[in-house]
Amino acid sequence: MKKRILTGIQSSGKPHLGNILGAILPAIELSKSKDAESFFFIADLHSLTTIKDGKERKEFVNAVAATWLALGFDTQNNSFYRQSDIPYVTELNWYLNCFTPFPMLANAHSFKDKSEKLADVNAGLFTYPVLMACDILLYDANLVPVGRDQLQHLEITRDIAHSFNAKMGETFVVPESQIRQDGMLIPGTDGQKMSKSYHNYIDIFLPEKELKKVILSIQTDSTPLEEPKNPDTCIVFKLFSLLASHEQILSLKNKYLAGGFGYGHAKNELLSLILDIYKDERLKFNQIILDESYLQRELEKGALKANTIAEVVIKRVKSKLGF
Ligand code: ADP
Ligand code: TRP
Repeated sequence: MKKRILTGIQSSGKPHLGNILGAILPAIELSKSKDAESFFFIADLHSLTTIKDGKERKEFVNAVAATWLALGFDTQNNSFYRQSDIPYVTELNWYLNCFTPFPMLANAHSFKDKSEKLADVNAGLFTYPVLMACDILLYDANLVPVGRDQLQHLEITRDIAHSFNAKMGETFVVPESQIRQDGMLIPGTDGQKMSKSYHNYIDIFLPEKELKKVILSIQTDSTPLEEPKNPDTCIVFKLFSLLASHEQILSLKNKYLAGGFGYGHAKNELLSLILDIYKDERLKFNQIILDESYLQRELEKGALKANTIAEVVIKRVKSKLGF
């Protein structure tokens, strides 16, 4: 049987260049393996822990879906779906709540972090890792690629699966986590990690004029135009290097070192590069985002596949529990 790769991305905003380079493109690359089948989903139920506005949620779900589709995720040979389209996940959530020790959730550092930062500390934030365990265990997933920040959640999933299996007999596949290397931490316009929460992100699907405004807002030092500049400390150069070919990087580096080349020029080169390498994806994204019925068809197709698999697993669980 093919190995099942599964990962979710929260619909808590529009995906930015950091999400695309750090999570989405590596996942799409992984999904190309011939001996694996991928389950990629939009975690819109998880987003309810922080986002309460329905219109906003829909907008973000559509933007996330359009991004994966525009970047070429193959939904024919894999499953791409919206978490809330699989009602079994909330059913399993109750069962697994009753197998999750309270202290394990109380000790989760992501809950501790969030409960210190957020004004609305709701029970959904507390049980967040159990719903995540359900996302994974409901499809007999073997491999879960995630960022390092999600490692503890994966450990919780494995603990819940082990303890259910030990108490009730072999039921769940215990998944392995695959931690993405932190090597590619994409800086935002202010040099910190690019993140929705820091408002320093680059949305590559913006109309050209707006994209230009964002690129022009990247922070630089005050070295005068005529003087040589240090590419190694410049955010514009760093972003350019993450996207460009070896020759393009070398050519920009030489312009920095030669002097007579301003940060405005460098920003224009970065803008042209983004417009050039993401030309097709930008077109595709804008077509898809306007075609609500295509988006819905894609998500329904994914939901159908995911529900079929989930049904088998939920039946297995219910029979073990005597329901
Ligand atoms: P944000 O920080 O914008 O809220 P998320 O936490 O929702 O982003 O991240 C979704 C995924 O994108 C994560 O798996 C994370 O590994 C990846 N990611 C987010 N920001 C970056 C970044 N600046 N560089 C590399 N990867 C990132
Ligand atoms: N919690 C993950 C994040 O914020 C998203 C997520 C939800 C997920 N369910 C999942 C990731 C299941 C992997 C597997 O990034």
